[in-house]
Amino acid sequence: MAKKTKQSKTLPIYILNGPNLNLLGHREPEVYGYTTLAEIEAMCAAQAKRHGLSIVFRQSNREGEIVDHLQEARTSACAVMINPAGYGHTSIAILDSIQALKVPVIEVHLSNIHRRESYRHNSYVSKGATGIVMGLGAQGYLRAVDAIAEILAPSSKNRSK
Ligand code: DQA
Repeated sequence: MAKKTKQSKTLPIYILNGPNLNLLGHREPEVYGYTTLAEIEAMCAAQAKRHGLSIVFRQSNREGEIVDHLQEARTSACAVMINPAGYGHTSIAILDSIQALKVPVIEVHLSNIHRRESYRHNSYVSKGATGIVMGLGAQGYLRAVDAIAEILAPSSKNRSK
């Protein structure tokens, strides 16, 4: 079950971004869009604020650093959003770190990975995620913030992680 304590609502949502997402807006914009990661961060912060929540927003090109951030989230986050980028398709270490979390985890992909190359169809992260948002571009990050707010709302029923 996703843990919902009084304290958990005051903790930030950790929004973690994997490799190459620092290049958003410039990298294959026909696939990933023209919105930069800095713009997505600002949009997420504003959306979280509307729900009375705050965010910690990080990007890393290094698998071990993402594992460190996920471990930090165990005690410092009310929920986690993660776009694992290419590591989603390869990293059991990131899945292990997600499975060690007791808070809701939403996986986000800008593109619909199932409409793309077959090597993108599997996501290890999905096996540990509470829910998945994909194919909505930068808007998907906002929908994931909304989903977390809904899951954490006092009126919402407990959902399994
Ligand atoms: C991505 C999809 C991945 O397959 C890819 O490696 C990325 C971005 C997405 O947001 O659509 O880097 O996670």
